[in-house]
Amino acid sequence: MDCSFFFSLLYFFLLSVGMSAALVADDRRTYIIHMDKSAMPSLFPDHHSWYMSTLSSLSSLNGVLPTHLYTYNHVLDGFSAVLCRSQLDQLEKMSGHVATYPETFGKLQTTHTPKFLGLEPNVGLWPEANFGDDMIIGVVDTGIWPESESFRDDEMPPVPERWRGTCESGVEFNSSNCNRKLIGARSFSKGMKEAGLNISKTDDYDSPRDYDGHGTHTSSTAAGSPVQDASYFNYAKGTAIGMAPKARLAMYKVLFFNYTYEAAATDTIAAMDQAIADGVDIMSLSLGFFETPFEQNPIAVAAFTAMEKGIIVVCAAGNGGPHGFTILNGAPWITTVGAGTIDRDYAAEVTLGDIGDLTVSGKSIYPLDLLVSRVPIYFGYGNRSKEICDDYSLDPKDVAGKYVFCDSGVNTFETDRAGAAGAIFSTDDSIFLQPGDFNNPYVAVIPEVGNSIKDYLIKAKNTTVSIKFQLTVLGTKPAPIVVWFSSRGPDRKSPWILKPDILAPGVNILAAYAPNRGIAPIGDDYDYLLSDFALLSGTSMACPHVAGISALLKAVHRDWSPAAIRSALMTTAYVIDNVNGTIIDMTTGIAGTPLDYGSGHIDPIKAIDPGLVYDLEAQDYINYLCGMNYTNQQIKIITKRSNFSCDQASLDLNYPSFMILLNNTNTTSYIFKRVLTSVVNSSSVYRAVVNAPSGMKVVVEPPAIAFDGKYSTAKFSMTVEVDAGVGNVRIQSDSIVNYGYLSWNEVKGKHVVRSPVVAAFAPYPRA
Ligand SMILES: *[C@@H]1O[C@H](CO)[C@@H](O)[C@H](O)[C@H]1NC(C)=O
Ligand SMILES: *[C@@H]1O[C@H](CO)[C@@H](O)[C@H](O)[C@H]1NC(C)=O
Ligand SMILES: *[C@@H]1O[C@H](CO)[C@@H](O)[C@H](O)[C@H]1NC(C)=O
Ligand SMILES: *[C@@H]1O[C@H](CO)[C@@H](O)[C@H](O)[C@H]1NC(C)=O
Ligand SMILES: *[C@@H]1O[C@H](CO)[C@@H](O)[C@H](O)[C@H]1NC(C)=O
Ligand SMILES: *[C@@H]1O[C@H](CO)[C@@H](O)[C@H](O)[C@H]1NC(C)=O
Ligand SMILES: *[C@@H]1O[C@H](CO)[C@@H](O)[C@H](O)[C@H]1NC(C)=O
Ligand SMILES: *[C@@H]1O[C@H](CO)[C@@H](O)[C@H](O)[C@H]1NC(C)=O
Ligand SMILES: *[C@@H]1O[C@H](CO)[C@@H](O)[C@H](O)[C@H]1NC(C)=O
Ligand SMILES: *[C@@H]1O[C@H](CO)[C@@H](O)[C@H](O)[C@H]1NC(C)=O
Ligand SMILES: *[C@@H]1O[C@H](CO)[C@@H](O)[C@H](O)[C@H]1NC(C)=O
Repeated sequence: MDCSFFFSLLYFFLLSVGMSAALVADDRRTYIIHMDKSAMPSLFPDHHSWYMSTLSSLSSLNGVLPTHLYTYNHVLDGFSAVLCRSQLDQLEKMSGHVATYPETFGKLQTTHTPKFLGLEPNVGLWPEANFGDDMIIGVVDTGIWPESESFRDDEMPPVPERWRGTCESGVEFNSSNCNRKLIGARSFSKGMKEAGLNISKTDDYDSPRDYDGHGTHTSSTAAGSPVQDASYFNYAKGTAIGMAPKARLAMYKVLFFNYTYEAAATDTIAAMDQAIADGVDIMSLSLGFFETPFEQNPIAVAAFTAMEKGIIVVCAAGNGGPHGFTILNGAPWITTVGAGTIDRDYAAEVTLGDIGDLTVSGKSIYPLDLLVSRVPIYFGYGNRSKEICDDYSLDPKDVAGKYVFCDSGVNTFETDRAGAAGAIFSTDDSIFLQPGDFNNPYVAVIPEVGNSIKDYLIKAKNTTVSIKFQLTVLGTKPAPIVVWFSSRGPDRKSPWILKPDILAPGVNILAAYAPNRGIAPIGDDYDYLLSDFALLSGTSMACPHVAGISALLKAVHRDWSPAAIRSALMTTAYVIDNVNGTIIDMTTGIAGTPLDYGSGHIDPIKAIDPGLVYDLEAQDYINYLCGMNYTNQQIKIITKRSNFSCDQASLDLNYPSFMILLNNTNTTSYIFKRVLTSVVNSSSVYRAVVNAPSGMKVVVEPPAIAFDGKYSTAKFSMTVEVDAGVGNVRIQSDSIVNYGYLSWNEVKGKHVVRSPVVAAFAPYPRA
């Protein structure tokens, strides 16, 4: 069966049934086609003409021609096109064809964060990196709102001469929208259009302009210029500023609105291909495709080339938590970022009684400056047949115009339904509440406070409440906390590397937003209020923090590889929160593990000077792919090399963390062989310090290492024996983990180079 057959057959039905378009479209699909450039006949001046000639040589009966979408120049050898099945069959038989993959789709997944991260204007990383001056961050996202104040270019020097990007024109976007901050903006939509998306029908812009606000938010988080008095309806008020405030931004729009946001693989590859050609230094991708073997994952394939060219690729770990094996973007040449909370919360002050008998504080992100003054408050007074605030427990007659006190959890459905003026919820779960949950003037209090309110209400019987909204609380404890939705490791397809790599702020992050997109739902009808700044949560928000900080590090250490920069971030990350406990997991309320937070929370100040790094180059990753038993073809697609060697196949990548897989056993042992590189000028001596639980025996050889100076290297081996039946065994994230740390502590120096050593059950043979 081929397209022409379908087409002619269905043409007959067209008049009566009117379904031919759908069925023809069924047979005609978008593909990513990998070609072997060495097979190109010499008569072609370049590979693009070869691909075009190949496409036009495919039979095109009844006028159904292949449609060329993109020729890829850097990240893969090949192109994307829309083909009939029969055309694909012909193509697959032609010399030079390597492999074909069908189109896939990926999904989306601050005033205070610089300070929380210890960034200060006059000392440390910001001034040392000159605020990321001269670094170019490419953001692959939903587009950008160029008029946002976060993209002002006041006092910025001219665009770097090496920049080859451009500012594309399109719907409500032209080159005047770019400046010395936003130096490039492009849009890639051919794949989505082929999939049937009509952009004008969904109101999205067929241009780099941001319809959602997500891309504006991530871009300004990475490299927004300072904006004074930014806030989300007076919450989090202060100067909003990106991580690398002087770095340049280039937007590559690939995510388009269609009920939710989706990106086509063909478009994403084209965007990353172009970003490399344009000359970005860092790529930030707050989107992910389903985890497949790497050669089928567009981001993994494109990121390999970026890595080879020294470009740092930072990606969101995904919002698939809290269960294990939910990591996206787990390729070892990508920096994979999980999300944590910061030490900031949003509050309301609640006063009970006409004369202010009891004043307490609770969480609220209600957007309006509402005056709640001596409003009657309703509580069942203990003689209720139903638990108050259960579904259909409230009588609208009792609560109209009043506040309701709910003493056992949040049920905004019921308080909305009954027409209460507002509600105070006593709950353990206020940490899970998002801005969108405060469509009415609600306050959530912890149960301890809830009990004191209850006691008071029972005594006072008929009383009133007054509330002050729009308060911001700093120094919240504990912080950071691994947020429930952050995807947990290890990666299902590549479990021999610990992922995520690192944790960064990703909860209620304030950054620029598209001002014409409703952000704050209000009232029972969910009308939306507009704002130039929004509080958003997601690993999408964590990712650009790390992209911006990577730009700062790269500005200071221009000769470091992406792996060296990631190593600096990872080995200096912290795992102790602001109450001196291990960073906790929001879901369980107890200490998390490296499968939740990777090497720990990012600490940019320490990352600038890590002492030693675990470096990697392309060949190391090839050795890892060989160790995974990838076929030559798979490796060729990822690396675009045809004469690589698998002589050094190994799953022991020189990574800054250590992972031991237990495959249906409780005990195993593994010998890691790693190489450290000194990145300080002077000679130094380091001593291995192991912190391991009783179920883990660790021996490092040699136990001390001397380095001559900058870029001197030294090898060590680490033998780990694991018994998951003994000691500090933790059931977490669907995998039993046992973990410790290896630190290389500088003798007579300050550097500590720390790596988690994790034992976890392999994802196989489970489903
Ligand atoms: C871009 O569009 C604006 C508004 O329509 C217009 O004023 C400006 O001249 C345009 N710039 C270019 C370079 O076309
Ligand atoms: C748009 O969304 C609809 C509904 O979910 C889906 O059926 C359709 O395939 C989507 N179109 C594209 C181009 O993704
Ligand atoms: C897309 O939608 C617009 C508005 O509904 C319509 O005018 C246009 O013809 C559609 N385009 C295609 C290619 O279907
Ligand atoms: C519930 O208790 C209040 C206060 O004790 C009393 O006024 C009210 O009549 C009682 N309602 C019912 C239905 O018993
Ligand atoms: C409660 O107080 C209001 C005004 O303060 C009053 O109108 C109402 O009758 C009182 N209700 C009861 C049950 O005492
Ligand atoms: C945490 O420990 C440090 C150093 O031991 C100490 O200075 C600090 O007060 C402690 N903080 C808390 C909240 O216990
Ligand atoms: C790769 O193949 C070798 C030889 O068959 C086998 O020992 C090894 O376990 C395989 N590795 C993986 C990751 O499957
Ligand atoms: C691959 O081939 C090129 C050109 O013949 C050669 O320079 C290179 O060393 C080869 N690489 C390997 C790993 O064999
Ligand atoms: C675990 O063992 C099974 C059976 O020997 C094997 O098929 C699978 O590949 C192993 N998994 C890993 C992650 O090594
Ligand atoms: C490191 O050493 C080089 C040459 O030995 C010297 O030029 C440079 O200033 C030194 N840097 C620092 C930070 O000491
Ligand atoms: C592994 O250890 C657990 C206890 O942690 C034990 O219940 C189980 O039987 C052990 N399995 C094997 C294969 O030894």
